[in-house]
Amino acid sequence: MTQRVRKAVLPVAGLGTRVLPGAKATPKNLLNVVDRPILSYIVEEARAAGIEHFVFVVGRGQGAIEDYFDANPEVEGALEAKGKAEILADVRRDIGPPGEMSFIRQMAPLGLGHAVWCARHVVGDEPFAVILSDMLMTADPPALAQAVAAHEEVGGNIVVVEPAPEGEAHKYGIVALATRTGRLNRMTGMVEKPAPGAEPSNLFISGRYILQPEIFETLQTQERGAGGEIQLTDAMSKLMKSQDFHALEYDGTTYDCGDKIGLLRANVAFALRRPELAESVRKAIQALL
Ligand code: G1P
Repeated sequence: MTQRVRKAVLPVAGLGTRVLPGAKATPKNLLNVVDRPILSYIVEEARAAGIEHFVFVVGRGQGAIEDYFDANPEVEGALEAKGKAEILADVRRDIGPPGEMSFIRQMAPLGLGHAVWCARHVVGDEPFAVILSDMLMTADPPALAQAVAAHEEVGGNIVVVEPAPEGEAHKYGIVALATRTGRLNRMTGMVEKPAPGAEPSNLFISGRYILQPEIFETLQTQERGAGGEIQLTDAMSKLMKSQDFHALEYDGTTYDCGDKIGLLRANVAFALRRPELAESVRKAIQALL
């Protein structure tokens, strides 16, 4: 029996360099996709996968994330007074049960591995999910639920992957597989930002992980890797010497919202998925072409 995945770590402290100046005063993961912040979709995906506790690893100036997931008596009171029941329900939709979220300061931008390590005391000694919330995914079942199902099947550590666009593998973490049959395959290695031509496959790590708590011990003594950062990929690669890792080629579509075009694509795609908006969105786009 594998232990159930109840907690998710969301490293959100990044500067959002590729979506500045929009992300200057608003944390990048609170930028809107249609009418909700990116994190609204991410938290919804995680809850659907059975996550009961969220550990946000934030940076300075990101208090708006806590505020978004908290009650706002002023806004709610005003909507109530005006009888705007539908908007009120929508505003309250993302608020979870008390104690569902923890917020930890990363204090210095030392890399993804360091951000995950900052969450060690709240996660404790159990398997947990890591979600890179720039990467918005549409999938049925949702991406993290697919990863949790894979974990229930094979245990150990699961890394969600997908084929990298031609010529872009060097921007990502890339996995090496024992053999490639079906969507869930045992991994034999991984490398962060390989030199062009040196990538062990075309499958990149796309932002959902299920990890065993031993990763924290590995991260504790971690040297810096690609880009001078403490890399999660390097820590996973070390842990792979003593634990199983499987890559799950998930079934769905990813939108990299940390990027201008990715964010725009997500806005169009998510608007087209909304039955009440689809028709007018189509017309509006058509009129621009
Ligand atoms: C991080 C991870 C990388 C992964 C990527 C997905 O890189 O280190 O393995 O492929 O996210 O977006 P970053 O985008 O922070 O450079």
